[in-house]
Amino acid sequence: MNLEALNKVADAMVQPGKGILAADESTGTMGKRMEAIGVENSADNRRAYREMMFSAKDAMAYVSGVILYDETIWQDAADGTPLVKKITDAGSIPGIKVDEGTRALHGAKPGELITTGLDGLSKRLPKYHERGARFAKWRAVIDPTNISHAGVLANAHALARYANLCQEFDIVPIVEPEVLMDGDNDIDTTYAVTEWVLKETFQQLYFMNVKLEGIVLKPNMIVPGKKAAKQASVDEVAQKTIKCLMACVPAAVPGIAYLSGGQSDELATAHLSRMNEIGGFPWQMTFSYGRALQAAPQKAWSGKAENIAAGQAAFLHRARMNGLASQGKWNEILERQHAA
Ligand code: 13P
Repeated sequence: MNLEALNKVADAMVQPGKGILAADESTGTMGKRMEAIGVENSADNRRAYREMMFSAKDAMAYVSGVILYDETIWQDAADGTPLVKKITDAGSIPGIKVDEGTRALHGAKPGELITTGLDGLSKRLPKYHERGARFAKWRAVIDPTNISHAGVLANAHALARYANLCQEFDIVPIVEPEVLMDGDNDIDTTYAVTEWVLKETFQQLYFMNVKLEGIVLKPNMIVPGKKAAKQASVDEVAQKTIKCLMACVPAAVPGIAYLSGGQSDELATAHLSRMNEIGGFPWQMTFSYGRALQAAPQKAWSGKAENIAAGQAAFLHRARMNGLASQGKWNEILERQHAA
């Protein structure tokens, strides 16, 4: 393990003005996205769509790294160039989702999930590294309305085992313990559950000898569930998220790259910008958005070759707005001025 190299990659992933594009949707999830825009979920359409983003050099200027799904990391662009090369040519770092999804966690509360993918991981990691991946992602899923100590512990332990293996193979682990945002829980429940999950996660990372200087944390923001009776202001979300992370995340961690988790594009941007405007924390704070970066370009593209420029323009707009948010410089006027 080369901690200095890991730290350099982690710093590059969270550098000011840039963030991470989460383009690692599984084939099943891409099926839902493609269905929404009336496009067949074929390997070639998935390749065409992702090639559109990775070739948008002006948009990629705001993208420090791209999380890929296994299928994508092995795919070539229409002109035969590996998609990973399109990413590195645009000055961005390729990464790879290495978890294999979730299954029921027997022995915990009914409905609790555990993330799978540890078996064989030490054989897959060197292959991904050889192909160009310099970071990885593993997502643990916690439902704040259905939670037990056994569930939190098992998920934190799996995250730590994954992170340790990644570092051994000189790959920066994105550690993603996601507390879901789609229930009816209030914001204070999200706060309490996120605090619990983060404290357990950092305890397990320590036990597994994970070097914090060589990770990136990908948490949820502290928001009320989507179905909660009372929603929160941008400022309340920003203040509570900073407070929670300050109580849980050691200063040795280079950066925090949030998931969007189903927030609207603009709200995910507004929350990030407000946090960076408030400041006062020891880490870089940026985005690692999937839906909040891709919803607009997906719609603009809609599977048609003649819409590629429009798709890239929509992607540029969201990437640029989030780049501003990573420096606390976004506002609604810029949002409208620059709209594609
Ligand atoms: P969302 O931003 O759509 O939540 O996706 C980010 C991600 O990678 C979730 O694992």
